[in-house]
Amino acid sequence: MTASDEDIERAAALLAEGGLVAFPTETVYGLGANASDPVAVARIFAVKGRPTDHPLIVHLADALAVDQWAVSVPTEARLLADAFWPGPITLLLARGPRTLDEVTGGRPTIGLRVPDHPVALALLRRFSAGRADRPAGIAAPSANRFGRVSPTTAAHVAADLGDDVDAILDGGPSVIGVESTIVDCTGDAPVVLRLGGVSVARLGDVLGHPPAVMHTPADEVAERREPSGGARAPGMLAAHYAPLARVEVSETLDAARTRADALVRAGDRVAVLAPTVVDSLSPDVIELEPAGGAEDFARVLYERLRQVDRLQVDVVVVVPPPPGGLGDAVRDRLRRAAASHQPR
Ligand code: TXA
Ligand code: MG
Repeated sequence: MTASDEDIERAAALLAEGGLVAFPTETVYGLGANASDPVAVARIFAVKGRPTDHPLIVHLADALAVDQWAVSVPTEARLLADAFWPGPITLLLARGPRTLDEVTGGRPTIGLRVPDHPVALALLRRFSAGRADRPAGIAAPSANRFGRVSPTTAAHVAADLGDDVDAILDGGPSVIGVESTIVDCTGDAPVVLRLGGVSVARLGDVLGHPPAVMHTPADEVAERREPSGGARAPGMLAAHYAPLARVEVSETLDAARTRADALVRAGDRVAVLAPTVVDSLSPDVIELEPAGGAEDFARVLYERLRQVDRLQVDVVVVVPPPPGGLGDAVRDRLRRAAASHQPR
């Protein structure tokens, strides 16, 4: 059931009291806390099991609030905000003086986003009401345990975090289904750190030139650019967005069939996920409902990966959508999931 006005009002009050509220966005569900409350922000890290030097995105009710959190906002960042907010893009900017170290992991930058979801916006507006004098924002990572698959429904959040959150607002399944695109606007030119809901082509249309794309996981990039962030094993965070099952990527339906059949013969419990039906699969292979083209694939990806774990599959062989548009974000997540190899 979609959250009612009363649910939203109660959730805003919980946030103001230092509570944790999971809320829907168009990308994935977020685990929110008052971004100006260091104790509440610390609870996010505790509940997620996330290292505290790993910065959080601050969600805002509208672009006007940017200057309460960031300084020296470049023209290109304003262009992107105008074009895509509310929407699935996070801008990294130089942090303002009132931004907490707990939110940025001590970094000099802050990630800001105005989400495009009626429940998220209603919550943000309610929470911001009467706080015009101070920055009102909701710090929120994806509402999953650290390193796992992001939630795209309220039920996913409940399954992952259960009683560790004070409220879960239901806003239906996330319509985009993969996280926001992260664009670092603190350098000479915008750099894409994470592929996501806004495609690189659309960024290029707005900027008038194609942006640089960092093909390193965003977290490692942040680490490398700001060594003060603390030492962590390089590559550790390539392992992300992962189900318990091993993920293998096959570029074609034929390759997926061959690989799945071989794995089944070797005794594995195997599932296949592809844009379309895979012909002549061995009956022992579990064929998941086809994921469709890039946009549909992005929308259902995390639910399918969760389904794989519910089915207690050992290996899921995935044929990704072609590159371009949301296909790039889906391929990025699958690459990271495949890099994880977490033993069950
Ligand atoms: O779509 C989304 O972005 C969702 C929804 C809830 O808004 N949020 C999300 O948050 O995916 P999270 O915390 O799961 O991923 C945010 C990524 C992390 O890898 C974090 O390290 C990076 O953004 N990030 C945030 N602030 C940063 C900063 N100041 N510098 C570098 N990286 C930053
Ligand atoms: Mg996340």
